[in-house]
Amino acid sequence: MELMGSDQAETLRSLRRLPTGERVATDDVRIIAVASGKGGVGKTQLVANLAVAFARQGRRVLALDGDMGMANLDMALGVTPSATIADLMDGTTTIDKVLVVAREGVTLLPAGSGRYELANISDRERAGLFEAIDTLENRFDTVVIDVGAGIGGNAVSFAAAAQDVVVVANLEPTSLADAYALIKTLATKRGVKHVRVVANMVRNAAEGEEVYRRLSLLTARFLNVGIDYLGYIARDSAVPRAVHAGVPVIVGEPKSGAGQCYLAIARKLAKTPADVGSATGGVRLFWRRLAGGSITQ
Ligand SMILES: Nc1ncnc2c1ncn2[C@@H]1O[C@H](COP(=O)(O)OP(=O)(O)OP(=O)(O)O)[C@@H](O)[C@H]1O
Ligand SMILES: [Mg+2]
Repeated sequence: MELMGSDQAETLRSLRRLPTGERVATDDVRIIAVASGKGGVGKTQLVANLAVAFARQGRRVLALDGDMGMANLDMALGVTPSATIADLMDGTTTIDKVLVVAREGVTLLPAGSGRYELANISDRERAGLFEAIDTLENRFDTVVIDVGAGIGGNAVSFAAAAQDVVVVANLEPTSLADAYALIKTLATKRGVKHVRVVANMVRNAAEGEEVYRRLSLLTARFLNVGIDYLGYIARDSAVPRAVHAGVPVIVGEPKSGAGQCYLAIARKLAKTPADVGSATGGVRLFWRRLAGGSITQ
């Protein structure tokens, strides 16, 4: 893939063209990947709630289901897509026909569920997919990605390409070990220098900090990765209720303990500048990088 000269990269970093011809600073673009290593720790619920919270802040949000093959962000957002990334990859539809407008103005790019081939796409196929997604760059200023569990090609590629990598973990040793394994893979294979931790299903703030403390001890000892704490989500029956209802907690039960936690995390993320360590500019550069191209700085 073509290397980009530093002048060109700089121009693309600082300016982004909107369809109207208006230009905005790419600092306004935010690409957040939510990953975990271990499955079932609360990624999809966090993505659905963050997407709605960012939309309420007036941002143009794309919720991207990167859990290809086991996708369920559509259910979390309460929509039933008629087409998915699987159809896009089959060449039977276009990306515009796959996008679904979900609640509160969030747009979802749904992936297929139960599709073995989606979970096992080649690097080349992934590059083709990202080229299609690249065409969306002017329409969104915030992308929240639900990264699948594990350290497979899809998960690692989505996580490594985002500006902000959010790692969800709980206090269980298996969750901490898998979160560490993911961070290690991102750091050693993809050069990720910084991650943010969200502790989920904890009893209180102190338990959340303990999740962060344990992960940061491990990373400080063995890896050259910065690790920050974004906050915690309380274990709360409002979350399974939200799952059953197909309604994000901050929509269905905003005053619940978990609802307040999701909102606090969204506020904190919004206040924190995008991670410049792994930022490569706008959505376009993000996808370019995801597709395996390198950008000279
Ligand atoms: N804070 C919480 N309190 C109570 N239950 C929770 C909480 N967070 C998640 N859960 C429960 O855990 C289940 C898994 O959550 P979610 O689907 O968001 O995890 P995931 O990491 O996306 O899983 P997968 O790796 O399978 O995609 C949910 O169905 C929900 O019932
Ligand atoms: Mg999930």
